[in-house]
Amino acid sequence: MWGQSPRRNLTVAAAPGKAEFIVVANRLPVDLERLPDGSQRWKHSPGGLVSALAPFLRNQHGAWVGWPGVSDVEVDPFTEDGLLLYPVTLSADEYRDYYEGFSNATLWPLYHDVVVRPVFDRSWWDAYVRVNRRFAEHVAEIASTGATVWVQDYQLQLVPQLLRELRPDLRIGFFLHIPFPPVELFMQLPWRTEIVRGLLGADLVGFHLPGGARNFLWLARQLVGLEPTRTAVGVRNRPGAVQMGDRTVRVGAFPISIDAGGLDTLAKTERVRKRAAQLRDDLGKPKKVLLGVDRLDYTKGIDVRLHALHEMIDEGTVDPADVVMVQLATPSRERVEHYVRMRADIEQQVGRMNGEFARVGHPVVHYLHQSVDREELAAFFSAADVMVVTPMRDGMNLVCKEYVACRHDLGGALVLSEFTGAAAELSSAFLVNPHDLDGVKNALRTALELDPTDGRRRMRALRRQVLTHDVDRWARSFLTALGGDG
Ligand code: ADP
Ligand code: G6P
Repeated sequence: MWGQSPRRNLTVAAAPGKAEFIVVANRLPVDLERLPDGSQRWKHSPGGLVSALAPFLRNQHGAWVGWPGVSDVEVDPFTEDGLLLYPVTLSADEYRDYYEGFSNATLWPLYHDVVVRPVFDRSWWDAYVRVNRRFAEHVAEIASTGATVWVQDYQLQLVPQLLRELRPDLRIGFFLHIPFPPVELFMQLPWRTEIVRGLLGADLVGFHLPGGARNFLWLARQLVGLEPTRTAVGVRNRPGAVQMGDRTVRVGAFPISIDAGGLDTLAKTERVRKRAAQLRDDLGKPKKVLLGVDRLDYTKGIDVRLHALHEMIDEGTVDPADVVMVQLATPSRERVEHYVRMRADIEQQVGRMNGEFARVGHPVVHYLHQSVDREELAAFFSAADVMVVTPMRDGMNLVCKEYVACRHDLGGALVLSEFTGAAAELSSAFLVNPHDLDGVKNALRTALELDPTDGRRRMRALRRQVLTHDVDRWARSFLTALGGDG
C-alpha cells in the first residue's frame, strides 16, 4: 500500500545526521516566488503556522524541513535568519494530488465541519502517502541520534509512524493546527485507520482544544483497539495517554498563540502609529473603521461579515458616510475549486456593496487581495475600531490575538466567532455565532457604539490573556510534555 519515493541527495551543507531539533511542516517559512522577468526571490509564507512557529524556532536555531512553495524545483539546504532550511521537492502532479487534492480538498473541508463537501479520491491518497514518506525519509537522513522532531499539521499526519519505522531513536511530537473534527465526521474518511495509526507514531499528539484530544482518544480505541490509560484532560493539566506496545503515546491540548511581545513593541513604534493615522486619513477620515484580515478561505466567514454590513446599511442602522470596512485577503490555494468560486462570490459582494453605497472616492468596502508586511498589518490593527473575525470554524485564529496585541492604547473592539479555538480564551470579545446573521449584526452594532470605558475594560482583559500566553509559552509547554515532564 505504501508507495516508494525517489530519494534526494543532500549537499554537504545539509550535514546529514547533525540536526538536533527539527520542525517538519508542509511549507518552509519562506516561499520561493518566480517573478515575471524570470528571476526568483524568497518571501514570507502565508498562514498562521508559519507566523507562530518561525519566531520561536529562530530563537532556537533549529532546522525546518518543508516544501519551498513551487513545484518541480530542487533547492539545496540553506540558512535564513538563524534557521537551517531543508527544502523538500514536490512534482507538479504531487502538488495537484497531495497538496491541492488530499490536503486541501479532502482533509481541510472534512476537518472544518464539512463546510464544503470533501472529495475522496484514491489517487490523491496514494500521493499523500508518497509525499509523507518523502518527508519522513528526509528527516531520517538529517536527524542526529536521539533528536527531537516536531511534525506539524494535517498535511503530514503519516510522518510520525513512517519516521518511527525509519528512526526509532527519535523523540517525535505532532501538533495539529486545524480543528480535529467530531468523530462522526472523521469516520467518513476511507483512510481513517491509517491516519490514526500515522499519528500514533508520535510520542505526543497535540491539539488546540481538549475536545480534539478526546476525539482522538475515542478513535484510537474504536479503530485501533487501544484503551486509554489516562483520558485526555483540559488545558494546563496532564495529557491523556494510550499504550502502543511498549510505547506510551500522550495526547493533549496546547492552544497556540503569537509573538505577542514582539507585536506589542512594534505597534508602539512611531512609524506604526503614524502609519495608522495616515491610513485613517487615506480612508477618508471615517468615524469608524471595521477590519477583516484573513487568507481568502471559505472557512473564514468573510461573506458573513459583508452580508451583515450590507443589511445594516440597507436598514439605515449604519451610515456609509461614517463607516468603512477594510478587508485584507491573502491569496490562498487559488486553483482549488471551492476557493475559485468563493473568491468570485466575495468580489461580487464587494462590487455590489460599493455599487450601491459608495460615493466617488469613498468606497464603503476597501478590498485588498494582497498580503501586507508585518509593520503595515500592525498599522491596520492600530487603526481599526472594530476587528471582525467570523470564521465558520477555525482551529485557533491568530488574527484576533494579533489585533489585541497591537492595542496597547486599549482602544478598539473585537467581534469573534464562537467557532474559533481563540473564543475559549478571549471571553471578553463580542462572541458571535456566524450562522446567526442577526446576532452578528447586533454584535457589530454594539461594537460600533461601544462605550469607551467598557471598551477599555474588555481590551485590558483580552490583553492580559494574550500577552501572558504567547507562542513561546505554547512551544515550551508542548516540548516539556514531549520531553516527558508535562
Ligand atoms: P490561517 O492560519 O488559517 O491562515 P490564522 O488567523 O491562524 O489563520 O493566521 C493567519 C496569519 O496570516 C496571521 O499571522 C495573519 O496576520 C496573517 N495574514 C492574514 N492575512 C494577511 C494579509 N492580507 N497580509 C498579511 N498577513 C496576513
Ligand atoms: C493554515 C494551515 C497551515 C498552512 C496555512 C497556509 O494555517 O494550518 O498548515 O500552511 O494555513 O495555507 P497553505 O495551503 O498556503 O500552506
